Amino acid sequence: MPNDNSNLRRGRVPVREAVAAAEPSAGICVKGWVRTLRRGKGVAFAALNDGSCFASLQVVLDAGLPGFEELCRAGTGACLSVTGDLVESPASGQSWELQAKEVKVLGEGGGDYPLQKKRHGFEYLRSIAHLRPRSNTFGAVFRVRSALAYAVHRFFRERGFLHVHTPIVTANDCEGAGEMFRVTTLDPVRPPMVEGGVDWTRDFFGERTGLTVSGQLQGELFATAFSDIYTFGPTFRAENSNTSRHVAEFWMIEPEIAFADLADDCRLAEEFLRYLVSYALEECGDDLAFFNDRIEKGLLDKLERLAGATFETMTYTEAVTALQKSGQSFEYPVEWGADLQSEHERYLTEKVIGGPVFVTDYPAAIKAFYMRLNDDGKTVAATDLLVPRVGEIIGGSQREERLDVLQARMKGCGIAPESLDWYLDIRRWGSCPHAGFGLGFERFLMYVTGMENIRDVIPFPRTPGHARF
Ligand code: 4AD
Ligand code: MG
Repeated sequence: MPNDNSNLRRGRVPVREAVAAAEPSAGICVKGWVRTLRRGKGVAFAALNDGSCFASLQVVLDAGLPGFEELCRAGTGACLSVTGDLVESPASGQSWELQAKEVKVLGEGGGDYPLQKKRHGFEYLRSIAHLRPRSNTFGAVFRVRSALAYAVHRFFRERGFLHVHTPIVTANDCEGAGEMFRVTTLDPVRPPMVEGGVDWTRDFFGERTGLTVSGQLQGELFATAFSDIYTFGPTFRAENSNTSRHVAEFWMIEPEIAFADLADDCRLAEEFLRYLVSYALEECGDDLAFFNDRIEKGLLDKLERLAGATFETMTYTEAVTALQKSGQSFEYPVEWGADLQSEHERYLTEKVIGGPVFVTDYPAAIKAFYMRLNDDGKTVAATDLLVPRVGEIIGGSQREERLDVLQARMKGCGIAPESLDWYLDIRRWGSCPHAGFGLGFERFLMYVTGMENIRDVIPFPRTPGHARF
């Protein structure tokens, strides 16, 4: 909805409104950054972009304008404030152009501006992360990201879910994978020692703490009070994997629902993804058209199919059988009990199913302690949602609600039940079946935009060796 609050507009018309105007208008002011500057005879054309939409507005600068030469020298990357008349454009590919009457250079660009006309590789753009939002591709990526973050909240709000802010600093490693970043105020050179090592009781929080790897455990506490809840926050993993699908800081959406089993969990995930994709198709048309054209051919068809799809489901055991029967040679061997590698996941979703697939009921030994043990005593009520190109985008499960079974599982995993007393308490009083999942927001954005590297869908990627800006 256009915002008519003139205070917020700060005397300007966003490019988004100018390029979609219904009629000509005289004396409007537009501000933005010069994407390209072309000189003709007695005239120059500047493509002005303010990030409010994919398109730039063509500004026509007459050579008679005061300061015309300085304007042209200000060049690509300059920030301009232009007042003029919005008139129908004789050029093809655009409806309107702005005939400049008065131009102010707010900030110079110039010959050494790193984003010149030629197309840059994404890797180079990552090295200038402070400027890459001004490029076509990253403008589109971050507009889609922002729209989808809003859609996440809207989806849950419309369904009566409570939004809970779970902590960033915590003493517990939810996934038990030992990938926590340490948070401490102890002197790194001479920490207080006790027999056997550092005396963490003298640290700020009186125990070892780190950055959260997941808000799930705290989310479960709220689900067993508010029934339907979700978190949407940053999560941190110190896994040293330099892949195109891992970052050390990423955003996760974690709903948790009471009175629910694994099938309910999968239904929620499916409805959620269909909603988000439909939202993107409705609200981000120009940006998605660009991705469809330049990044992943057939993207729009893929998204439209997903918006109406029911996802396939197969058990882990069926998945292993399908992989073994495939005759495909994999780098990592496939055998029951081993975790599925990304090559296996992609084969399943791309070749066996040809679309998204929930893989369920994994061996207990390769999954986290909180997942509900199935009656076979060997597998747990877990699910991963796999999608073509990206692999796993969701990990979820029904939770173990039986206190004794959970305590036994924790011991088996080497976790002292006392250390998570507060978590076990919700099984002591008013325990109930409940389930939830985590959607990796960046993995999902890779799927929606077609971008192949996770670093290209997060504003400031944190990976081993990179946290400068
Ligand atoms: O499968 P994961 O580890 O599950 C959990 O953390 C559960 N506590 C979620 C829950 O049930 N509430 O992570 C969930 C998702 C993955 O499927 C993946 O999309 C994403 O988080 N993810 C990562 N994304 C980017 N970089 C990483 N290093 C990621 N690790 C996990
Ligand atoms: Mg997982």
